[in-house]
Amino acid sequence: MSEYQLRPSPSGGGVDAEAESGRRHVPVMVEEAVRFLHLKPGGFYVDGTCGDGGHSERMLEADASIAVLGIDRDPQTLALTAQRLARFGERFRTHQGNFSELGDALAALARKGAAFARTGADGILLDLGLSSRQLDDPARGFGFRAGGPLDMRMHGGVGPSAADLVATLDEQALADLFWRYGEESASRRIARAIVADRVETPFTTTTALAELVARVVRKRGGTHPATRVFQALRIAVNHELEHLETFLAHVLEWLLPAGRLVVIAYHSLEDRMVKQAMRGWGTAHCTCPPAFPRCVCGARALVKVLTRKAVMPAAEEIDANRRARSARLRAMEVLA
Ligand SMILES: C[S@@+](CC[C@H](N)C(=O)[O-])C[C@H]1O[C@@H](n2cnc3c(N)ncnc32)[C@H](O)[C@@H]1O
Repeated sequence: MSEYQLRPSPSGGGVDAEAESGRRHVPVMVEEAVRFLHLKPGGFYVDGTCGDGGHSERMLEADASIAVLGIDRDPQTLALTAQRLARFGERFRTHQGNFSELGDALAALARKGAAFARTGADGILLDLGLSSRQLDDPARGFGFRAGGPLDMRMHGGVGPSAADLVATLDEQALADLFWRYGEESASRRIARAIVADRVETPFTTTTALAELVARVVRKRGGTHPATRVFQALRIAVNHELEHLETFLAHVLEWLLPAGRLVVIAYHSLEDRMVKQAMRGWGTAHCTCPPAFPRCVCGARALVKVLTRKAVMPAAEEIDANRRARSARLRAMEVLA
């Protein structure tokens, strides 16, 4: 598959069979992410969306004195990555959970007596969304091409699935969901068609839902007509925006002075949230009472934004990995 690059095997020689067979996720903008993290000797870094560990691996290789905590909400993926990166020993630990609860992960690390446990990180990376491994596995129900149950739960079958939402939400709620999380302009027509059809046969497979959307919406450019509906359902099932919002509300507590945050987003809803948060922290706000004739609080920004505009992948990377094409990277540094 052209979307996957061949990588050297962990042992050094030959071809990495797993990546060759196209199952492992190819990390996006990996060199840019490591450059913006600006690894410092002996530093402690958090990969909040560890997935198949491509970014963690690159960080650990780039500086032999750093340690990385890899977090992912998907237990299946994380178990494979823990095994694959076991060669880094104590320098790489995993934690199954949500990046929005990073404070708990740091506390758990300290309780377990990890040598590099700290109260905060020198850098945090989020590479949002789904991995190719998740998308390509029909059993997970994320993709519409391969078929499979309409599931989409990232965290091992907890909470309502996409099929549950499609079966139970009323027409208005479905339309709102497709509009809000998918920015789907045909949201009402699609919701109406779903509600009409589900009386006869519930939507239990990804292909059944994709076929209905393709019947209602005309193909736009090269993307499948169901792309936005699937994005919307995935975001809703996994509460993705809520987790990002919570993370952004707390991340300054989890970064050490001069710590860096790097976020790679793949759609405008998430990129906008990151951009606005960074812009807010990067702007000096005076907190003096309005009655004061002049500022005495020494208003200063909390962070320095390192990316005035989002950084995009190079053309060669997009040619080699089509899934990189929508990536947008933003970075900032906490002012000491
Ligand atoms: C784009 S993939 C990351 C790929 C990874 N950088 C690599 O090189 O393999 C996104 C990963 O984030 C995980 N994820 C998504 N939302 C999460 C959340 N709120 N908390 C923790 N992990 C999350 C997904 O399960 C998925 O494995």
